[in-house]
Amino acid sequence: MTPPPSRSPRRTLTRALTVAAAVTLVSGLGVVAATQASAAAGCRVAYSANTWSTGFTGNVTVTNLGDPITNGWTVAWAFAGNQTVTQGWNATITQSAKNVTAVSPTYANSLATNASATFGFNANYSGTNTNPTAFTLNGVACTGSTGTTPPTSSATPSSPPTSPSTPPTTTPPPAGAKVDNPYAGVQGYKNPEWQAKANAEAGGSRVSNNPTAVWLDRIAAIEGTDGSSSNGSMGVRDHLDAALAQGAGYIQFVIYNLPGRDCAALASNGELGPNDLPRYKSEYIDPIAAIQADPKYAALRIINIVEIDSLPNLVTNTSGNAGGTAACDTMKANGGYVQGVGYALNKLGAIGNVYNYVDAAHHGWIGWDSNFLPTANILLQAAQASGSVNNVTGFIVNTANYSALKEQWFGIGTSVNGTSVRQSTWVDWNQYVDELTFAQSFRNQLVAVGFNSSIGMLIDTSRNGWGGSARPTAASTSTDVNTFVNQSRIDRRIHAGNWCNQSGAGLGERPRANPETGIDAYVWVKPPGESDGSSSLIPNDEGKGFDRMCDPTYTGNARNGNSLSGALPNAPISGAWFSAQFQQLMANAYPAL
Ligand code: BGC
Repeated sequence: MTPPPSRSPRRTLTRALTVAAAVTLVSGLGVVAATQASAAAGCRVAYSANTWSTGFTGNVTVTNLGDPITNGWTVAWAFAGNQTVTQGWNATITQSAKNVTAVSPTYANSLATNASATFGFNANYSGTNTNPTAFTLNGVACTGSTGTTPPTSSATPSSPPTSPSTPPTTTPPPAGAKVDNPYAGVQGYKNPEWQAKANAEAGGSRVSNNPTAVWLDRIAAIEGTDGSSSNGSMGVRDHLDAALAQGAGYIQFVIYNLPGRDCAALASNGELGPNDLPRYKSEYIDPIAAIQADPKYAALRIINIVEIDSLPNLVTNTSGNAGGTAACDTMKANGGYVQGVGYALNKLGAIGNVYNYVDAAHHGWIGWDSNFLPTANILLQAAQASGSVNNVTGFIVNTANYSALKEQWFGIGTSVNGTSVRQSTWVDWNQYVDELTFAQSFRNQLVAVGFNSSIGMLIDTSRNGWGGSARPTAASTSTDVNTFVNQSRIDRRIHAGNWCNQSGAGLGERPRANPETGIDAYVWVKPPGESDGSSSLIPNDEGKGFDRMCDPTYTGNARNGNSLSGALPNAPISGAWFSAQFQQLMANAYPAL
């Protein structure tokens, strides 16, 4: 389901991040007016705007440099232009003409000395989106330092030093209440619907006891369906109840229903049109969040894998890139992906036992220099749109893809007869040859751009095993770099850009926690045996298109080096059970079954 671009430095890549983050540190207003006598007041505001053609996401962090605030805070500013706030989070935001006020939520009324609060909002504008530079906190101008605020009169203060009238409530729990790695030390939920399909296959019981993710790939999947869909009929509550009954410690859902979904491919287009962001929020994310927040499930670690392929598509598959699509241009211009992911992270991240891992593509997509940092940046933009990077527990790579976990017989530093493997046709100047090195390095990049240093990575190992008789058992002895790489590589695809029902693939590492440094878990997010897309057009009512990358006779496009697709024949639509593929995956499992 993953449409990677090939990105070699031989191609000219122009990339302007139209959604640029501009942070303004505000200081400098001279006038300091005290509203509370005797209280030393002072504050600092950092304001940033991620702007696109008609709107932007504002992110505001206010730091209280004065005495502790215990009964609520209000941050105010005025816009210079016609900016109009449409939605806010982590504060109640109201606007009157150009004047905006943001009032603390009841659960976060206090702001200790030197403590910060962050809130965000979406807004529309036309013309120029000029950042405001003057802010107040509880009526006091934020100069960036503690104002000397003598009592306004020598009379007895009209109000005594404040004490909270209502104690801060404890919900939602702070992000710090979550465990660092939700996979550690507990058993995963086994989806009975996938188990039944696996068990119905000869030999399937050897693997059916592994935890796999539950894909919420349409609105109807929340309540459960009549069984006519390709994915089964249990709804979110059914799965959570079953997880409790199993005594599972964690359960994995895939949040996968963005407006204009799968903009660079056709096989997993979904039900929501490009402009259906409001429906995504109200009919999809809100109901999921309501169920996941039910205290009945508080003891479960609920893990959401958030929106496969979406944000990376905005980096590499917009026009100006080889094989870019108009659909991706649309989703970049209308903000639907960034705002949708931001909304999902915000709503789901607010729940104390819920963990968000955002999709970060795979090495054969993001591993080129031209894509690496821009992807980290757009992931950060979505997290900022959610109000806080704390809404992100980590990232997942290789979801539903086939990239080898470890290339055993060569690394990125290997040279053959003086020629780097990076120059081989297979590696094509990528900086990574496998998913583990990519995941660990991308984690560092994500921390460098602003994510918490506690983030962990997941790697989908459901179908990247590449065992069986075609697996190389030693490094090639060839002195030709292409022959060396092609004979040595574990990943046996025709091209690393191939993604649909790959011929020769096997089950990969079984799901487990803490397998390597920086990796929270190996997971099976794509349930083995579920198709990536149909080999020919199959009419359906799920919005699924026919992508020729799933047709074994297709000779490719710019994104796979004009190679054969490597897809298995006779595949059903994405998500539907594909027995021949499941049998191949078991036969080529590595480690072997
Ligand atoms: C499909 C989804 C399906 C998922 C898991 C995706 O490619 O679009 O409908 O739930 O794969 O099999």
